[in-house]
Amino acid sequence: MEQTDQIEKDRDQDLTALGSVPSAPSSDVDSMRNLRNTLGQFATGVTIVTALDPAGDMIGMTVNSFSSVSLDPPLVLWNLGETNYGYDVYQQADYFCINILAADQSELARKFSQASDDKFNTVKLKLGNNGVPLLEGCLAYLECTKEAQYPGGDHVIIIGRVERFLSTNRQPLLFYTGQFFDLAKKSETTEKKEQHAAGATPKNKLWLTRD
Ligand SMILES: Cc1cc2nc3c(=O)[nH]c(=O)nc-3n(C[C@H](O)[C@H](O)[C@H](O)COP(=O)(O)O)c2cc1C
Repeated sequence: MEQTDQIEKDRDQDLTALGSVPSAPSSDVDSMRNLRNTLGQFATGVTIVTALDPAGDMIGMTVNSFSSVSLDPPLVLWNLGETNYGYDVYQQADYFCINILAADQSELARKFSQASDDKFNTVKLKLGNNGVPLLEGCLAYLECTKEAQYPGGDHVIIIGRVERFLSTNRQPLLFYTGQFFDLAKKSETTEKKEQHAAGATPKNKLWLTRD
C-alpha cells in the first residue's frame, strides 16, 4: 500500500471515531449534547450584555459568544439565541453595552443567565451612553451602537460599533466546560503539594482554579 493511501485510511478511521454533527436539531439528542460539550471545550471570558427595551426598562443577559471583529472600524459581535425571553427586544435595541465580567462576578453571571423580571434588583450600576446600564465592578466595558444583525441558525449575530470603552486591571472570569473559573494563582499549599508530587518547580505560576 502506498504511504499516502495509508495516511488517508488512518485519517478516515480517526474521523469515524469523531461524533457526527446532527443534521436535524433535536433529532439526535446525544449528538447534540456531544456537540455542545465539544464546543464547551473552547474557554471564553464572560460578559453581560445590557440594553434598554422600547419602554426604557433595563434588560441584560449573560453572554459568552462575544468576540472582536474589527479594529478599524471598531466592531464587535455577540450571538443572541432565539429561546431567550428578550429575543425580540434585543433585536430592537439600537444601543448596548458589553460588560466584561471580573473573576469575582460569577454570581452576577448566574443571575443574568436566568429568566427573571428583576435581574437588576440589588445590582449596582451607572448609566452610560443613551441610558444603557453599566454594571459596577466589571473588568471592562464596551458601549456600542448596533451596526448590523444577521441570521445565524437558531441565533442572530449582532454586530456593534464601539463608541466608548473602559478597561481596568481586574482579573477575568472564565467559562469552560460549562463551569466558571477564576484565572488565579493556586494557593501556596496546593502549589507546594504538586511540586512535591511532581518533584519539580513549575515555571508558570498562573493556574486555573474552579470557582
Ligand atoms: C456562561 C453563559 C454564557 C451564555 N452565552 C449566551 C450567548 O452567547 N447567547 C445567548 O443567547 N445566550 C447565552 N447564554 C444564556 C442566556 O444568558 C440566558 O438564556 C438568558 O439570560 C436567559 O434570560 P432571558 O430569557 O430573560 O433573556 C449564556 C449563559 C451562560 C451561563
